[in-house]
Amino acid sequence: MEEFERTHRNTVRALGADCTVLLRSDGTFPLDAPCDVALYGSGARRTVPGGTGSGEVNTRFNVTVERGLEGAGFHVTTKSWLADYDKAYAAARKKFISDLKAEAKKVGINPISYAMGAVMPEPEYSIPLTGAGDTAIYVLSRISGEGSDRRPVPGDILLTRTEARDINLLQNKYRRFLLVLNVGGPVDLSPVPNVKNILLLSQLGSVTGEVLADIVLGKAAPSGKLAGTWAAWEDYCKEGDFGGVDDTRYREGIYVGYRYFESVGKKPLFPFGFGLSYTSFKLSDTTVDVEGEKVTVSATVENTGSRPGKEVLQVYVSVPEGRLDQPVKALAAWEKTRLLAPGESRLLSASFSVSELASYDERLSAWVLEPGMYVVRAGTSSADTSPAVVLGLDREVTVLKAKKCCSGADFEDWKPESPKKPEIPANLPVIRLDADSIPQKSVEYLPHLTSDPSAEELSDEALAYMGIGSFDPDGGLKSVIGCQGSTVAGAAGETTSKLRGIPSLVMADGPAGLRLTPKFYRDGKTAYGVGAGMPASFLDYIPPVGRLAIRLMSKRPPKGAVIREQYAVSIPIGSALAQSWDKELLEACGDLVGDEMERFGVHLWLAPALNLHRDIRCGRNFEYFSEDPLLTGRAAAAITRGVQKHAGRAVTVKHFAANNQETNRYFSNSLISERALREMYLRGFGICVREARPKTIMTSYNLLNGVHTSESRELIEDILRCEFGFEGVVMTDWVMEGQESMGTKHPCALSPNVAAAGGDLFMPGCQSDYDALLKAIASGAVSREQVRANASRVIWLIRELTGMV
Ligand code: BGC
Repeated sequence: MEEFERTHRNTVRALGADCTVLLRSDGTFPLDAPCDVALYGSGARRTVPGGTGSGEVNTRFNVTVERGLEGAGFHVTTKSWLADYDKAYAAARKKFISDLKAEAKKVGINPISYAMGAVMPEPEYSIPLTGAGDTAIYVLSRISGEGSDRRPVPGDILLTRTEARDINLLQNKYRRFLLVLNVGGPVDLSPVPNVKNILLLSQLGSVTGEVLADIVLGKAAPSGKLAGTWAAWEDYCKEGDFGGVDDTRYREGIYVGYRYFESVGKKPLFPFGFGLSYTSFKLSDTTVDVEGEKVTVSATVENTGSRPGKEVLQVYVSVPEGRLDQPVKALAAWEKTRLLAPGESRLLSASFSVSELASYDERLSAWVLEPGMYVVRAGTSSADTSPAVVLGLDREVTVLKAKKCCSGADFEDWKPESPKKPEIPANLPVIRLDADSIPQKSVEYLPHLTSDPSAEELSDEALAYMGIGSFDPDGGLKSVIGCQGSTVAGAAGETTSKLRGIPSLVMADGPAGLRLTPKFYRDGKTAYGVGAGMPASFLDYIPPVGRLAIRLMSKRPPKGAVIREQYAVSIPIGSALAQSWDKELLEACGDLVGDEMERFGVHLWLAPALNLHRDIRCGRNFEYFSEDPLLTGRAAAAITRGVQKHAGRAVTVKHFAANNQETNRYFSNSLISERALREMYLRGFGICVREARPKTIMTSYNLLNGVHTSESRELIEDILRCEFGFEGVVMTDWVMEGQESMGTKHPCALSPNVAAAGGDLFMPGCQSDYDALLKAIASGAVSREQVRANASRVIWLIRELTGMV
C-alpha cells in the first residue's frame, strides 16, 4: 500500500463515526473491551462499502465488519453461521443470474445492459443462531446503484421474514444486542420495534468495518443526524408518481420528506435530523439576534452525560401561509459542536438570511416573502424543536423577480387537505423585521456569448471537436459505464485531443472517491486498464455477464508491458457524508479526493452528485445527500471547496436536474411544477454555485417537463447562468453510442440541440454526434456565435486547469 493510501484511509477512519447515526441506544454500548461476539447478518462478511455503478470506487481492499472486529481484538463465535450464510447466498445468486439472463433473452436486450444495476433481494434461509457469548451484532446490508431503482419488497426496502425473525430472536437471546444498518437508504424497520440498540453505519468506503469496531469500543462517537426521514414503507408520501417509464409526475409538489410528514402530522420511525449519541445533551439559553436581514440563533449545548460526543443545533422556520401553502417547517440553518467532553458546554450560533426563506410564486414569476409571522425554532431534529422567536413581516417583499422557465407540468400540485399549523405560544417574543433591509433583486436574462480570441480562429471542424468529448472514432464498447478516457486508465472521459496545442482534460467519476482502473499499462500516451475498469461489484453481482463484458472490453497487455497501479481510497457515500452535518468534514473529504486527482492526473471529478432524495426508491440516492435542499446544497458546496482548493482540479456537479429515478433513466420525463422545481430540485444547485463556484456542471439524462435537460436553454442559460451566476462549463451526462430510445416515448438528446441550448460539451460523444454538430454549424442550424461561446468556455477551463496560455 502506498503511503498516501494509508494516510487517506486513516483520515476516513477518523471521520467515519461522524457520518453514522445512532438510532436507538439503551446504554449497553459501547463496550469496555473486545470480547466474544456472535456476529450475524448479510453484511457481516459481505459488508457493502458503497453502491454500484459509476459511483463505485476500485480500492485496494475493503475491511468488512468481520475483519474490522477481529482486527480490533474481538473473537467472532459464529464462523459456521457465516459460512452457511455464504452458501445460502451463493445458491440464491446462481438462480438470480440465470433468471436475469433468461429475462434479457426474452425481451431481446443485451444481458450486460439488462443486468446493469440489478440487485438481488436478500434470500430467505434458516440457520440456527447459536453463537457463543453474551454480545451479538447483526449487520443488515442493502446495495443499489445506477440503472435500477429500489423496490418495496422483502430483501430490499422491506425486511425479509428471515431477517425480522432473526433480529427479534437475537434481541431476546443476548444480553447485549446491536443491529447495524450497512445500507445506503432507508429500510422499513417496523417489524423489529423492540430492538434497543440500532446504529445506521451506512457505507463508509474501504474502512467501514474498522469504523464499526471503533464505535463499538467507544473509541469513536457516532454523531451523525439523519439526512432523510426513516418511516414504515406505507407511511411515505404516495401523492406523486414514481418510476414512470415515460412520464413521472411530481404531484406532491414541495411536500418532500419531512415537509410531508410534518405537514400531515404523521410520525415516522425516525425523523429527519434525528440522531442519538453515547452521551446526552442539553440545549439552553436560546437567543435570536436580527441584524438587517441576517438572523442568528444561538444556544448553549451542554454534554450532560458521561461520554464525549457531538450535537447539532438545528434551526427550522415556519413560513406563514398566504397565497402560497407552506410546509409546517423547513430547515434554515445548523451548527455542529466539536467533540464535547462530559460536562463541557459550548455556545453555538447558526445564521440565515430572511431572503433565503422566500417561496416561488408562479403567478408572479418571483421569489416572494409574504407578510405574517415567521416562527423560528431551535432543536435537535425536525420533530424536536421549540419556538424561539417570531419574526414579523408587515408587507410582502419580492426578493427576486425572475421569469417563467421550464414550466409545463400538466397538473396542480397536491397540498395537504387539513395541514398541521405551527403553534405560536402566546408569550413568544416578536421581532419586527425591517422589510427595507431585505435586498430585492432582478435578473438580466442576457445570452452568454462572449468569445475567446482563440475560438474566433477555430475552423468549423475544430469547433465541432471542442463541443464533443474525446471519442474513439472506431467506436466499440469499452465499458458499460463511463470509461472513455485514454490518458488515465478507467477515467470516464476527456475533452478532445484532436487539436494541436490544446491539451485534453481528464474526467473521472465519483462521488465516493475516484473511480479508476487500479492496474494499467501504457502504450505511448494511452493508458490501458487491465480488466476493462469494471467495478468490483459488477463481477461480484453478475459474474458470468461480467466475465463476458471483460472479454469484450479488455485489451490483453502486450508481452513485456509494465503493469502499474493507481489505487484510490473511497470516502463515505453521499448520504453518509450529509449525515455528518459537518461542512469541515465534507471539505476534508473533497480535499482528500483533490489530492488523489493531482497524483493520478485527473482534472475533473464527476461529483458531487446532488439530486434530492425525493423518494426512497431511487436507486442512486446513496450517491446523493439528502431530502432537504439546503443540506444538499451546503454539502455539495463544502466538497467543492475541498476539491477546488487544489490547483488544476475541479468538480463536476451533477445531475442537473430532477434526476430522481433510475427507471428508464435516459428517457424518462420528470413533470414538476415550477415552484417545486425551483424550491426543491434546483435550490441545492443554486446554493452550491453561489457558495463554492464549481467549475463545471453535468446535466442529467432525463427530460424535464418535456425537454431534455441538456437541450434546455431555459435551464442552462436562464436559470443556471443568468439566475445562479454560473460561469463554468456545462457538459452532458454520458450519452453512449447506440443509445436509443428502446421503444419508449421520448427521444435521445442530440449534439446540435445541446450546443444550441448553451451546453458546452456533449460527453463522451461519438463520430455521429460530431458529424451532426459539424453539419449543424455549417448549415447555420446552430449559430457560430453560440458554438464559439461554448468553445470559449471550454478553452477557459483548459487554461484554468492546465495552465495552457
Ligand atoms: C452516470 C454519471 C457518470 C457518467 C460517467 C453516467 O452513466 O449517470 O453519473 O458520471 O456515467 O461515468
